[in-house]
Amino acid sequence: MSQVSAHPAYDYRTVRQFAIMSVVWGIVGMTVGLLIAAQLVWPDFLASQYSHFGRLRPLHTNAVIFAFGGCALFATSYYCVQRTCQTALAFPALARFTFWGWQLVIVAAAITLPLGFTTTKEYAELEWPIDLLIAAVWVSYAIVFLGTIAQRKTSHIYVANWFFAAFILVIAVLHIVNSAFLPVSLFKSYSIYSGAMDAMIQWWYGHNAVGFFLTAGFLGMMYYFVPKQAGRPVYSYRLSIVHFWALIATYMWAGAHHLHYSALPDWAQSVGMVMSLILLAPSWGGMINGVMTLSGAWHKLRTDPILRFLVVSLSFYGMSTFEGPMMSIKTVNALSHNTDWTIGHVHSGALGWVAMVSIGSLYHLLPKVLGLVQMASVRLINLHFWLATIGTVLYIASMWVNGIMQGLMWRAVNPDGTLTYSFVDSVAASYPGWIVRVIGGAFFVIGMLIMAYNCWLTVQQAKQADSIRDLSSPEPQTV
Ligand code: HEM
Ligand code: HEM
Repeated sequence: MSQVSAHPAYDYRTVRQFAIMSVVWGIVGMTVGLLIAAQLVWPDFLASQYSHFGRLRPLHTNAVIFAFGGCALFATSYYCVQRTCQTALAFPALARFTFWGWQLVIVAAAITLPLGFTTTKEYAELEWPIDLLIAAVWVSYAIVFLGTIAQRKTSHIYVANWFFAAFILVIAVLHIVNSAFLPVSLFKSYSIYSGAMDAMIQWWYGHNAVGFFLTAGFLGMMYYFVPKQAGRPVYSYRLSIVHFWALIATYMWAGAHHLHYSALPDWAQSVGMVMSLILLAPSWGGMINGVMTLSGAWHKLRTDPILRFLVVSLSFYGMSTFEGPMMSIKTVNALSHNTDWTIGHVHSGALGWVAMVSIGSLYHLLPKVLGLVQMASVRLINLHFWLATIGTVLYIASMWVNGIMQGLMWRAVNPDGTLTYSFVDSVAASYPGWIVRVIGGAFFVIGMLIMAYNCWLTVQQAKQADSIRDLSSPEPQTV
């Protein structure tokens, strides 16, 4: 295996660690997802006091979003900021702290959630001592990332770093505001907000967690890795700047679409709906900018499965950001809310966009930070691509069918005004879709296992090629 040319002192150690752990947590989080998907078909499957659906569902969401997605974001942002600013990470010791601190958060979540310790706020379930650790890690992350930008050797700040920086700063604000709790014991606390105000703060947080954790950070990935892998400059740099400001300005106001027909004032729900519809424009502007970056390089898709991961992720991004605004229209939401349609939307974003763009970026990045040119097996990347794509399509198509069916069954009424179907009828009718989801999820998990094997092979090759002299060296690596 040939090696890349020597480059002045980039600090790749933390990047490598986060990249590997992203794959590990991806497997863990998605396997838990597969388990709860199976439990919806066979409720007793591996169920115990600690491993029933209610305990494992938040474990799944936390593991895939914050452990898998989070580690991928740390790895790619630390990699991108160094390469585009032509400088090593600022405060390397603090960067190491972000790695170990984040792993500690994940392990603490994996222990406390099955034990039933939870604030009950979705995507913010972790109890206050863990919240404090998250805040410490996140502030350190901001210092390392922004410090690296401050010491850059380049005159301007590449647009990917704008997206990463916005993601880091906004998540800090969201986390601190939404986690304002009054602790009553080491493991129990109560939100300082109450009633409709609590709900609004929670979904301001929840929606912007989608907007900034699951979107802005991954758009940072897109703006770095798509041009790199395609070997083409970003289609329109000007559009990328418009994209950035339009997205940032709009996302903040859309959270109320999660609270349609609730106790929230009607005008606030309408603002959420209108801002969500406006959000289609910047979302698609960004998606088109990414896809058009392939102009003149489309032929590469025939031979390059990494590029396929990246381009397909953009298609799913486009799909889910079209679907989201539609679902935010109140009359559409009256049908979709609480049904599997929402779950289908979530996973077209989560599997199709977030997971695929991360996987493509990690396949690009990992060999580079190991001193190699490419992954050990391109054929296995190709196999992974098809498993992931087929798995995602099976998952989301079955949930769309289920969701629309559930919505229609719940609202169907007989001429005398009584309900046509009981809730249990809709559950029984959902089984075929849930079984298809298990199959789709299994495809996706098998793909991740193949990725892990390919990563292992690549690390072995790197060791053989003596590309990395000492994985545990505290000094910045010269690769
Ligand atoms: C093998 C892959 C996966 C499988 C089988 C899977 C399965 C599931 C299942 C069964 C649920 C619960 C649905 C329900 O309550 O009716 C769920 C919820 C969820 N999953 Fe996944 N999942 C997978 C991957 C992912 C990934 C990669 C992400 C994020 C990056 C993700 C994010 C979520 C979120 C946010 C929810 C909560 C949705 C909501 O409350 O509306 N999942 N998943
Ligand atoms: C223009 C962009 C988007 C808009 C306007 C939008 C809108 C919506 C709407 C209306 C819902 C249903 C709320 C409900 O009925 O309870 C929803 C749920 C959700 N969306 Fe999106 N969406 C967008 C993009 C995305 C993307 C790209 C992702 C993931 C990467 C995503 C993740 C989620 C999640 C996790 C939920 C479930 C929240 C929950 O109830 O737990 N969305 N979105």
